[in-house]
Amino acid sequence: MTALLHDFDYEIHPTLDKHPQDGAPILREEGYPEVVIEAILSHAEHLSVPRDTPLKKTLFACDELAGFIHACGLVRPDGIATLEPKSVKKKLKQPSFAAKVHREDVYKGVEELDVDLDEHIAFVVEALRPIAGELGLRTAA
Ligand SMILES: [Fe+2]
Repeated sequence: MTALLHDFDYEIHPTLDKHPQDGAPILREEGYPEVVIEAILSHAEHLSVPRDTPLKKTLFACDELAGFIHACGLVRPDGIATLEPKSVKKKLKQPSFAAKVHREDVYKGVEELDVDLDEHIAFVVEALRPIAGELGLRTAA
């Protein structure tokens, strides 16, 4: 739920002076749990909300990486069906590829969550594979 909601206000608040802090009151009004709202606030570096729970760390560690993996899938003939951590890491080192993805946030997220980069990439790729078609990626079948 947190992952799905974390950028919900981005279209109405596309700038960092409003996103996601101005979205939080909307979620409160809708009755979302404070644990979810706090985690959403913590994904924004500019708010300096400490990422002190597994939920907060997981959201941050998956956010930029999921977008990056999607970008990797867009330029492959079979999407993310055969995407390996090795290729993702190689692309991370190419600043011109998916240039808007903050590499430092990918590495920081992995460090904060205290997981291995290869394993984390593999985990996120695996999580996205079943919905690759819905994400607009080519599928092997
Ligand atoms: Fe965001």
